[in-house]
Amino acid sequence: MENEYLCKINIKETNELLVTLKTYALKNDVPIITDEGINFINQIIKLSKVKKILEIGTAIGYSAINMAQKNDITITSIEKSTKMYNLALNNIKTANLEDRIELINDDALQVDESLIGSFDLVFIDAAKAQSIKFFEKYKNCLNEEGIIITDNLLFHNLVTEVIRDRNLRQLVRKIDSFNKFVVEVEGFDTYLYQLGDGMSLSIKRK
Ligand SMILES: C[S@@+](CC[C@H](N)C(=O)[O-])C[C@H]1O[C@@H](n2cnc3c(N)ncnc32)[C@H](O)[C@@H]1O
Repeated sequence: MENEYLCKINIKETNELLVTLKTYALKNDVPIITDEGINFINQIIKLSKVKKILEIGTAIGYSAINMAQKNDITITSIEKSTKMYNLALNNIKTANLEDRIELINDDALQVDESLIGSFDLVFIDAAKAQSIKFFEKYKNCLNEEGIIITDNLLFHNLVTEVIRDRNLRQLVRKIDSFNKFVVEVEGFDTYLYQLGDGMSLSIKRK
């Protein structure tokens, strides 16, 4: 068995709504988490007995619905775009998950984090250039031994490439800075995973 194979968590998605949302995202260029990424998070939720999740970056609600359908949890999810927020609201209603997923339509960097409660897991999946700011702000909302998971550390493998486009190069530099930041951030033990688009898992020390 090859190493690459060992790193993968292969669970095929069969839920009809989730398949519909994935198809919508693909057709409309909405970036959503990879299958490997969401399956990894769902494993962590189960193993760490996570009950309350804060998600930064809802998009159409795919990852929030996926996590809530497969686990006995509640989620608060923050989305800056009103268009995405409304789509997510609608999808969450279709999934009958309004009682377990609360959406906030705001810029996560502007939200007063002292008012939104405390969480066992924070999932950072919004503007990739801002991941350090999200981490620094929302680490304050973590319960003891809480977890922060951040997605897109590899950014479609561009983090290891030479890039000509100036804006893209700047974005990739910021992602690289986050990667360096997160392995050294004080008060956390961080693990990096070559799963999906690259993920970090940071556990708050006691
Ligand atoms: C990668 S998508 C989220 C995908 C979603 N987590 C999923 O896997 O289904 C990132 C989302 O973050 C939102 N976003 C970007 N910057 C944000 C910010 N500062 N505050 C809140 N949401 C933000 C974008 O509008 C976009 O919908």
